[in-house]
Amino acid sequence: MAGSNSVTPLGGAGPRDLRARVLRDLRISVMDRCNFRCPYCMPRETFHDKYRFLGSHERLSFDEIVRLARLFVRLGVRKLRLTGGEPLLRPNLTDLIGDLTAIEGIEDIALTTNGALLGKYAFELRAAGLQRITVSLDSLDPETFRRLSGGFGGPEDVLSGIEHARRAGLEPIKVNTVIQRGVNDHTALDLVERFRGTGVIVRFIEYMDVGNRNHWQPNVVVPSKELVARIGARWPLAPLRRAYHGEVAARYRFTDGRGEVGFISSVTQPFCGGCTRARLSSDGVLYTCLFATHGTALRDQLRSGASDDALLDVMRKVWLERSDNYSERRQGLLPVSERKVEMFYIGG
Ligand code: GTP
Ligand code: 5AD
Ligand code: SF4
Ligand code: SF4
Repeated sequence: MAGSNSVTPLGGAGPRDLRARVLRDLRISVMDRCNFRCPYCMPRETFHDKYRFLGSHERLSFDEIVRLARLFVRLGVRKLRLTGGEPLLRPNLTDLIGDLTAIEGIEDIALTTNGALLGKYAFELRAAGLQRITVSLDSLDPETFRRLSGGFGGPEDVLSGIEHARRAGLEPIKVNTVIQRGVNDHTALDLVERFRGTGVIVRFIEYMDVGNRNHWQPNVVVPSKELVARIGARWPLAPLRRAYHGEVAARYRFTDGRGEVGFISSVTQPFCGGCTRARLSSDGVLYTCLFATHGTALRDQLRSGASDDALLDVMRKVWLERSDNYSERRQGLLPVSERKVEMFYIGG
C-alpha cells in the first residue's frame, strides 16, 4: 500500500477533492460501440460504417480493468457501474463481471444497457454475479422509439429484454428515460402507466448538453417539476427521502402503493455538491466529470509496467485536484469553447 494517508483500508475515508467530495462510484465504459444510433449521442451522419472506433488492443483488457478497479477501491470506491456505448457488445463481458464481483470492498455492481441484447444475456449476467441493471428506454411508441434510436431496435425488444432480466433476478430494474420537449414528452405518461405496479422503477432524465453534437437548447429541456406535476395529476405522488448520499434521482412514491418514479434534474437542480463519481473510458482515460474537456490517460502507464503505488499516486492526485461542478455553472459556460468528452465514450 502507498505511504500516503489518503490511501485507506476498507472503511476509511479516502481522498477528498477540492470541494471536499469523496470518491465512491466508478463508472467503467467497456465498449465505445453501440448497436443504436440515438441522434443525441451517436448521430448516424458521424457514426457511419467508416467511423473508426477503438480497436480491441486499444481498449483496456479485463485484467487491466480489474487491476484499476482494485486500486480505486483503495481510494474509496464502493460502487461500480458498467456502461458503454453498449456494454453488452463487449465480447465475454460476463468474465469481467465475475472478476469484478470478487473484489473485496465493492458493495454494488450495476450495468446500463439499451436493452436490445438483454434477452440473450440476462441469465448469463446474473449467473456471473451482476446484481441489477438499468435500461435506457425513451419511448414505448414505436415511431418515437425508432426516431430516438436512430432506426434500430424497437420497444418490444427492450420490453422483452426487461422481462428476461426480471426473470433472471437482475433487480431492481430501473428504466432511464431522457425527455426532450416536442420529441418524446408526449409519451412520458405511457411509460409510467406501463411500469407502475411492476417493480420496475422509471426515472426521467432532463436532457443535457453532454458531448459536442447533440444541438442542445435550453428550451428542449422539460424541467422535472413540470413532469412531476403532470404525472402527479394522474397518479398522486409523495416525495421519498434520498436512498443514499449523492443519489442523483429525486424519488417519489405513488400514494396508491404501486411503486415509485425518479427524476434526474441535472439541468434545473444540479447535484454536483454530492458528486462522488469518476469515469473510466474504454481506452483507460480517467475523467472526473461527465462534461470534462480533459482526462488522465492510465493505459500507457498500465502497459509500461507502472507499479500499483505509482498508479495510485496518479489517481489520487487527479481526485485531490478535482474541482468539477459543470452543472452548477452551466448558465455561465454556454457556449463552451473547448470540446467536451462524448457520452458514448464514457457512458452516461
Ligand atoms: P443508481 O445507482 O441506480 O441510483 O443509478 P445512478 O442514478 O447513479 O446512475 P445512472 O447511470 O442510472 O444515472 C442515470 C443518468 O443520470 C445518467 O445516464 C446521466 O444521464 C445522469 N447522471 C448520472 N450521473 C451523473 C453525473 O454525475 N452528472 C450528471 N450531470 N448527470 C449524471
Ligand atoms: N442528456 C441526458 N441523458 C443522456 N443520455 C445520453 N445522452 C443524454 C443527454 N444528452 C442517457 C442515455 C442513457 C444514459 C446512458 O445516458 O439515454 O439512458
Ligand atoms: Fe447507444 Fe446509449 Fe448512445 Fe443510444 S444513448 S447511441 S443506446 S450509447
Ligand atoms: Fe458530477 Fe460533473 Fe455531473 Fe456535476 S456535472 S454532478 S461534477 S459529473
